[in-house]
Amino acid sequence: MLNYNLPADALTSDLLTFLREGMVRDAATEQAIALVRTEYLKSVAQGAPVSADILSALASFCRDHEYTFAVSAEDEVNLTRLDPARSKVENLMTACFWPIFEEALPLNDISNLRPISNAVSDAVRAQYEESPYPRWRVLPDLPEPDTAANILVAGCGTGQEALIYAKASPHSWVTGLDLSRVSLAYALAQARARNIANVRFMQGDILDVALLEQKFDSIKCSGVLHHMEDPLRGLRALTSVLADGGKIFLALYSARSSEPKEAAIQLRKARNAPATDNGIRQFRQEIFALPTNHPARNALNSIDFYSVSGTRDLLFHVQERYYSVWDVKALVEAAGLRLVRFGIGAKPEQRFRDMGFTDFSDLASWDKVEERHPGTFSGMYRMLLEKV
Ligand SMILES: C[S@@+](CC[C@H](N)C(=O)[O-])C[C@H]1O[C@@H](n2cnc3c(N)ncnc32)[C@H](O)[C@@H]1O
Repeated sequence: MLNYNLPADALTSDLLTFLREGMVRDAATEQAIALVRTEYLKSVAQGAPVSADILSALASFCRDHEYTFAVSAEDEVNLTRLDPARSKVENLMTACFWPIFEEALPLNDISNLRPISNAVSDAVRAQYEESPYPRWRVLPDLPEPDTAANILVAGCGTGQEALIYAKASPHSWVTGLDLSRVSLAYALAQARARNIANVRFMQGDILDVALLEQKFDSIKCSGVLHHMEDPLRGLRALTSVLADGGKIFLALYSARSSEPKEAAIQLRKARNAPATDNGIRQFRQEIFALPTNHPARNALNSIDFYSVSGTRDLLFHVQERYYSVWDVKALVEAAGLRLVRFGIGAKPEQRFRDMGFTDFSDLASWDKVEERHPGTFSGMYRMLLEKV
């Protein structure tokens, strides 16, 4: 995919577009981008002419991947030859390795439901305030706009999902609720950059969602409840603000699909790797350096592995639990909900049909699908729920 014939004039516009809009999703691309950066650094350090446009795109790409790419010994030497104050290209080249200018997030524009009092929620808040997740760059269009008028994205993180719905459905009103003020400020900055105004971002615990004093036609809660101390309490709180006839979209970790990352988590614990940005960068390099048959290398198959905050979410989480389809059944029923549909997503649906099943809310069928294809829910169990 990438043209290694550097420097700049050999680069294709595809690469420039990728640097402006893309995200790394696999080890080969990460290594290729690190090599591109090394080659540019060499050119800049030698005083060769280099396009500022490319360096600007590369700098924002490295920033959005939280400077997670390996810095080689050659890079270290060449970096000592740069003076970011001397020229624009040296400035931009330096910005490919560490932040030289931090844009202030609109932290003071995020209002608060009430102080977070649950100890687990507070630990989760601290994690996502240090490592807002996920970092994202483009806002995909929804294939079918959601017609719901009042939408809650519970645990909205950095706001991509909330903004997808707000953009697709300009007459809807979207509320994003999250523990992390930093993630919410990131989301608000993204909304402002795109002139999306039918959305608001609030800091608060799902446990306190009733304080919003609203009912919602549609509640989205993706990758969130499994980080709560008591997910059932969380789901009950969401059900209490669901309008009659409304639907909850819920996504939860599958135990079977999460098994492949377990070896990397055990290795992280055995090494006592610190959950700091540098600790995470270093641990990632340790995983890359493992023998190819080491089970901890399974982490390389997750797209979350390719940023610092993603690796933290994947391998360093302060609170997470995993579900079987039967755990999901118990949770949903205890919250007074029923499944409208389970296994939402192209891959699970295809496997479901391939095995001859037809009732998408039948968990016994889904259990058989997952037993045969244990990685089916690597993107989580995704389901639609309604009140009983
Ligand atoms: C893995 S991220 C998912 C973010 C977003 N839903 C997405 O799919 O990109 C989990 C988010 O849930 C939030 N969260 C976890 N527990 C929460 C709670 N009790 N109340 C509100 N937000 C919570 C975290 O702060 C974090 O931003």
